[in-house]
Amino acid sequence: MDHFDYRHDVLHAEDVPLPRIAEQVGTPCYVYSRATLERHYRAYSEALGDHPHLICYAVKANSNLAVLNVLARLGAGFDIVSVGELERVLAAGGDPARVVFSGVAKRSDEMARALEVGIKCFNVESLPELERLNEVAARLGKVAPVSLRVNPDVDARTHPYISTGLKANKFGIPVDQAVDVYARAATLKNVRAVGLDCHIGSQLTELAPFLDALDRLLVLLDRLGEQGIDIAHLDLGGGLGVPYKNEQPPQPFDYARALLERLAGRDLTLLFEPGRSIAANAGLLLTRVEYLKPGETRNFAVVDAGMNDLIRPSLYQAWQAIVPVDTRRPRDPVLYDVVGPVCETGDFLGKERELALAPGDLLAVRSAGAYGFVMASNYNSRPRPPEVMVDGGRLQVVRRREPLEALWAGETLLPEGP
Ligand code: LLP
Repeated sequence: MDHFDYRHDVLHAEDVPLPRIAEQVGTPCYVYSRATLERHYRAYSEALGDHPHLICYAVKANSNLAVLNVLARLGAGFDIVSVGELERVLAAGGDPARVVFSGVAKRSDEMARALEVGIKCFNVESLPELERLNEVAARLGKVAPVSLRVNPDVDARTHPYISTGLKANKFGIPVDQAVDVYARAATLKNVRAVGLDCHIGSQLTELAPFLDALDRLLVLLDRLGEQGIDIAHLDLGGGLGVPYKNEQPPQPFDYARALLERLAGRDLTLLFEPGRSIAANAGLLLTRVEYLKPGETRNFAVVDAGMNDLIRPSLYQAWQAIVPVDTRRPRDPVLYDVVGPVCETGDFLGKERELALAPGDLLAVRSAGAYGFVMASNYNSRPRPPEVMVDGGRLQVVRRREPLEALWAGETLLPEGP
């Protein structure tokens, strides 16, 4: 459930009509709903109830400071994958003691900064990373809390680019090597194993792969217990899907219930790293129709947002709903390919969409709050769009439109002369 609804035939973000945002801020523009972010976060925290838990929002999904701040105020933890994300969390008022650090290629300086601010846990993805972390921690006179990210070799049955828990993927330590790596960790003075971690993919629409992964982790936990290695927390990563079209992904409540059933009798704190399921349907991309180009084989609606603003349709052939902002002007619907201004045939936001349009109309690309702005680029020297947060009847620009000069800031000319 989200807080984007039609009122008197005009799409609103909470209590703010989208045409007002377009007028004040221009298009293209990302619009987020605070109430929706909060609702999605609470769906997780309420689902876990009294069971000891920490919801570590995956910063990569949407790292705007205001988004992080809204979640930090609710007590969220954060899953980060770079020192840049760490600094964002700190700048947004997040608690470093609630941060877990994932990622296959952590640099020494990133480890050092995370140790300095005292994060909750490093999700270690390989033996060399474990050894490097031990060295960095020794240099700083610290002991690094670690989980091993185990690759359970389960098929998440999602898009191959966002499936991460198969043997063929670069992520994690193969489950059958994990006991040895934990044993190695026990011999290192400056790391301490506190958790066990996995993340099998993103946009999962069924529970079965999560439960398969959990079953494999529980077998591993028992084997670790036999070796005297006690684990305090289990981090099951993110990955719960969202409805983009007519998918019916499990709700956090059903997911949590199924997990807690299997965890009964074990003294384990549960961590989740949800990104998409918190942010995707809490945001949309507002764009305006520049031109309509009727064609012999296809009709094009050329809009002012392109693949540089929202790359998911081009990169993953992802389907996101494209809806008119104002439905009061009845025209006959036509099938359009909704395309952007970028000079690539792959620059589309949606294909074969039935829409009743005139030039100048506003469209909303739904479900764009996750992996939207964060994946935007300056391709074709297009400034990245602004981001707006709506909170009830208030709207705040939480990131201004990039000024043109920002496009070449940091670039230099060669010295004068031949
Ligand atoms: N934890 C780890 C270690 C991850 O790699 C990811 C996502 C998450 C948590 C959050 O997963 P979520 O709850 O959002 O599914 N750009 C792609 C999605 C890439 C996801 C990468 N990892 C897309 O637009 O569909």
